[in-house]
Amino acid sequence: MQFKNLILAASAAVTASALPAANTTSTTGESTFGVIAIHSTSAVQYAAFAAAKSSLFAGLAHPNATCARPAEQSATFYINDGALFLYDESATPQEIFVDASGMGQGVIGYTTGAQSAPGERKGWAIDANDHLQFGGKDLIACPNSIDGAWSIWADAGYANPGYNSDCVGIAARVEKTSNPNGCVYTQ
Ligand SMILES: *[C@@H]1O[C@H](CO)[C@@H](O)[C@H](O)[C@H]1NC(C)=O
Ligand SMILES: *[C@@H]1O[C@H](CO)[C@@H](O)[C@H](O)[C@H]1NC(C)=O
Repeated sequence: MQFKNLILAASAAVTASALPAANTTSTTGESTFGVIAIHSTSAVQYAAFAAAKSSLFAGLAHPNATCARPAEQSATFYINDGALFLYDESATPQEIFVDASGMGQGVIGYTTGAQSAPGERKGWAIDANDHLQFGGKDLIACPNSIDGAWSIWADAGYANPGYNSDCVGIAARVEKTSNPNGCVYTQ
């Protein structure tokens, strides 16, 4: 499994470098990206990240986001100064937070507009393998969330956070977008 992941990562890197350099950025200049879950022995493998109901999911069939290109429903992100945002052209930001306390156990949510965050904003980065991480750690996906999707968690030291079971560690592979789809995601 580890070996397969290495090959996958290596071939993804080759593909990315073979593409022409896309210069697409958020309205404030950061590059925009989607995210794909990687865990080769799990059903979550290759499921795209979606944002809905102020949470992040992988493999959610109907996020019901209001998008510039409505048929494309996977989430588009950018990072600004260590904080992770959902991309839209509007001036009302939707911004991710993480509650890594014993209560939150790594729960990921997002706020809309001026709502205050019940957790940490900063700590997001893309590592050398193009994996989105929080606090220098890979993310966690837990099955059997809404509509059969996987819920996405930060690693706060809980292998099965939030009373879930059968969660798996994932590499959250960043896929840079050349033409970001602006969306307002449901609260
Ligand atoms: C991308 O576009 C911005 C704004 O036009 C420019 O400042 C920046 O140098 C460009 N970057 C690349 C890599 O072309
Ligand atoms: C999206 O809308 C459909 C139809 O109303 C519903 O079945 C589904 O649960 C909704 N999805 C979310 C994530 O709210």
